[in-house]
Amino acid sequence: MRYNTSFGILFVLIVACAPASADSVLITGANSGIGLEFARQYAADGWDVIATHRRRSTPDSLAELQQQYDNVRVERIDVTDPAMIAAAARNLEDVPIDILINNAGIVGTFDDERQHFGSFDFELFEQFMAVNTAGPLRVSQAFFPNVAASKQKKIVAISSAAGSFAMVRRGIEENIPIVKRYWYNMSKAALNMSFMQLAASTAKDGVSVAVYHPGLVRVERTASYELPEAFKSMALDVDVAVAALRERFAELDAASSGGFYAFDGSAMPW
Ligand SMILES: NC(=O)c1ccc[n+]([C@@H]2O[C@H](COP(=O)([O-])OP(=O)(O)OC[C@H]3O[C@@H](n4cnc5c(N)ncnc54)[C@H](OP(=O)(O)O)[C@@H]3O)[C@@H](O)[C@H]2O)c1
Repeated sequence: MRYNTSFGILFVLIVACAPASADSVLITGANSGIGLEFARQYAADGWDVIATHRRRSTPDSLAELQQQYDNVRVERIDVTDPAMIAAAARNLEDVPIDILINNAGIVGTFDDERQHFGSFDFELFEQFMAVNTAGPLRVSQAFFPNVAASKQKKIVAISSAAGSFAMVRRGIEENIPIVKRYWYNMSKAALNMSFMQLAASTAKDGVSVAVYHPGLVRVERTASYELPEAFKSMALDVDVAVAALRERFAELDAASSGGFYAFDGSAMPW
């Protein structure tokens, strides 16, 4: 009896002292901008980070992050490439993913005429849909078992106000240049629709899904061109935007699944 009691106490002590497994996050397009900042912040917080990129070899940004943190793993994922996604899913078989962040995206510039009426480039349209709309669905489907096997069970995508019918309607009324960018706006609107449906499909497995507008975020890409005057005062530093989005992801649950939210927690109009 005494032996059993001591053994029980020892068992409780071992379980209580064992390190809890860290939460984990997979980020697409993690080599630059918002994706890189997610990788940095989650790594600094002790999460297991799976930072993915589409380049032939590990980008310097991610090699540096791996040197700094031993909880960063790098995988190659081009979100338009089913074979590459399947290979990464095999590498990560049985690895739980608490939050799958579909961040990878192409944006284009406001003045790229290939997205403007009168000079449409439909091959470019297909590229936008492949990366911004089909990409998040491909990745979410491939890694769904990993998310379903995790503690938090969340799938999110970085969308944009540009994918909101209501916001673009307002932009048309106010003659803001963003509304000329057909392909980007359409691809994010379709992403929003697909994630609303995804939330319904995954609810029975306890997986919460949402899309987010990150704000107008200063990244390396936007540094190369002048923002329209109307937007300058709205621009956020990337660390601020990402910290806010991480709070939003922490709040996501079954009740808020299927929604479209801004970085500050307000509901976005569809
Ligand atoms: N910055 C903003 O103000 C803002 C506002 C609203 C929404 N967003 C959204 O935020 C997300 C991140 O954008 P960002 O501003 O941080 O721009 P960014 O620095 O250009 O980041 C885009 C990332 O996506 C990757 N990517 C592009 N095509 C890919 C593909 N086929 N497969 C895998 N990765 C791919 C890029 O990789 P490469 O380096 O190899 O090209 C890069 O890592 C995008 O979805 C964007 O639409 C940004």
